[in-house]
Amino acid sequence: MSLELRSVHFRYPRMDADVLRDFSLSVARGESVAVMGPSGRGKSTLMGVAGLMLAPQSGRVFVNGIARTTKDASRLLGREIGVVLQSVNVLPRRSVLDNTMLPLLSSGYGRDIAARRAARCLAEVGIDPADFGRQARGVSGGQAQRVGVARALVGEPSVLLADEPTASLDARTARLVGEALFSAARSTALVLMTHDETLGGLADRIVRIGETSDIEGE
Ligand SMILES: Nc1ncnc2c1ncn2[C@@H]1O[C@H](COP(=O)(O)OP(=O)(O)O)[C@@H](O)[C@H]1O
Ligand SMILES: [Mg+2]
Repeated sequence: MSLELRSVHFRYPRMDADVLRDFSLSVARGESVAVMGPSGRGKSTLMGVAGLMLAPQSGRVFVNGIARTTKDASRLLGREIGVVLQSVNVLPRRSVLDNTMLPLLSSGYGRDIAARRAARCLAEVGIDPADFGRQARGVSGGQAQRVGVARALVGEPSVLLADEPTASLDARTARLVGEALFSAARSTALVLMTHDETLGGLADRIVRIGETSDIEGE
């Protein structure tokens, strides 16, 4: 399995309820899972735990079969684990291509190979090569989000985590970005947190989060 969460419990400090309770999930390379549920049910928390940004109180996170902790985050994020957030923090004055290749440059790749790989990823998410040289601040929201997907994939991660990647887009653009995400991420284990049923429906599998009712017995 590229990503496995085993019996994870997570609670924020000073909160009196678990956000994640005995949560388990396995995702293989080439597989996509949509983690779905309304706002406040723990999707972003799950993303934080799976992305080694939040330490669960108990349970384990395995990446490519190896148990990992938040101590491994700086080594794995941008490499074995790619992350796409709701709004992409592109560097506004750098070009689309530069933004996409940054993770490779910071991993020590030379500019030529980094540019070639970034160009390939941008093409996969449907960015026109004529736009590669544009400043990132000049592109549309949908394009910026696709740049974010390309940037997350440029390091060829085994696991791609996406948290509400289309939430800030209109429906039509969201669909284009969603399709780009699913097709470009087909060689990773994709975990997509979303409350959008249309987007979630594109995944191989849907996991509902936080649906156990608190008002049971009423
Ligand atoms: N940093 C935090 N400190 C305390 N509580 C938090 C924090 N972040 C989120 N929560 C709470 O944890 C629950 C799950 O939040 P979150 O994972 O953001 O849900 P979702 O992404 O599904 O909207 C919510 O009740 C939220 O208020
Ligand atoms: Mg969230």
